[in-house]
Amino acid sequence: MKDFGGRVAVVTGAASGIGRALAGALAELDMKLVLADVEASALNEVAEGLAQAGRSAVAVPTDVSQADAVTALAERAYEEFGAVHLLCNNAGVFAAGLSYDAPQSDYDWCFGVNVWGILNGLRSFVPRMLEAGEPGHIVNTASMAALTSVPFSAPYAMSKAAVLSLSESLYLEMQARSASLGVSVVCPELFDTRIGWAERNRPAHLERKDEEGASPEREGTEQAIKAATATGQEPGVLAQRIIEGVRDNQLYVLAPEGDPWRDACNARLDDLRAGRNPGGAVPGGGE
Ligand SMILES: NC(=O)c1ccc[n+]([C@@H]2O[C@H](COP(=O)([O-])OP(=O)(O)OC[C@H]3O[C@@H](n4cnc5c(N)ncnc54)[C@H](O)[C@@H]3O)[C@@H](O)[C@H]2O)c1
Repeated sequence: MKDFGGRVAVVTGAASGIGRALAGALAELDMKLVLADVEASALNEVAEGLAQAGRSAVAVPTDVSQADAVTALAERAYEEFGAVHLLCNNAGVFAAGLSYDAPQSDYDWCFGVNVWGILNGLRSFVPRMLEAGEPGHIVNTASMAALTSVPFSAPYAMSKAAVLSLSESLYLEMQARSASLGVSVVCPELFDTRIGWAERNRPAHLERKDEEGASPEREGTEQAIKAATATGQEPGVLAQRIIEGVRDNQLYVLAPEGDPWRDACNARLDDLRAGRNPGGAVPGGGE
């Protein structure tokens, strides 16, 4: 997708961090925006701010883990603008813990938002985007955690590895069908957002019970994520990288060469090629 102006973008997780920055950057390109998030009041503030700046943005409070809610989001988007050209499946949550000890609710929550949330987006939008036959693009947000060997965050890292795999399948399917839809999977390094405070959006039925899965490693990783993201880059940097990835139809939108997360990814590839066991610490402590 080369042209953005006047076209329609849907961004999930748009109330905060990377999604909010992406919404702002797409608005600068004169896109019409449908913004979704589970945090309704923060979402409304983002949409109102954009509207006050003369941009076209509607807020649709949505829990992406719920298929019906994402179907309703698509209905609303098509009702409002008659088309969708760019779908950014960005909403995500983080949970740390020892793989064998983390409660099922940690896995259910991370997979519900990070994986099923994206699948819900694909199911609700891709058939209609294909039917329209116009140039379009799907952006799925994974993480450099999907491309590196990461301890103490299996619920998150597993979910992001699934997003990578899902995006590769979708890319190859679009190629096989000679479709006009491009696909990108975004694998960010560390950005200054509220991902370390993702628990704020955890639904009551998936709360951890008492000290379930508590461990010094979980505690340490939770602290490390907060500290590392707080000193991370400004999310607008990533928004520009994503836009470039869409324009150039890059499947893999990765941390740049020279970044410690890209080095860790390269080291993992070297380990795989050599059949060697993973050896290193993770930059930033686990994200
Ligand atoms: N910040 C980083 O360093 C980093 C690194 C790698 C990947 N990521 C990924 O980037 C994406 C954006 O996260 P962020 O860093 O901006 O964090 P953030 O917490 O600032 O923003 C995430 C947004 O997703 C929303 N959200 C959570 N659950 C939702 C649900 N069920 N339905 C709809 N919206 C929901 C939150 O309300 C929030 O507005 C996530 O997928 C995250 O995993 C972030």
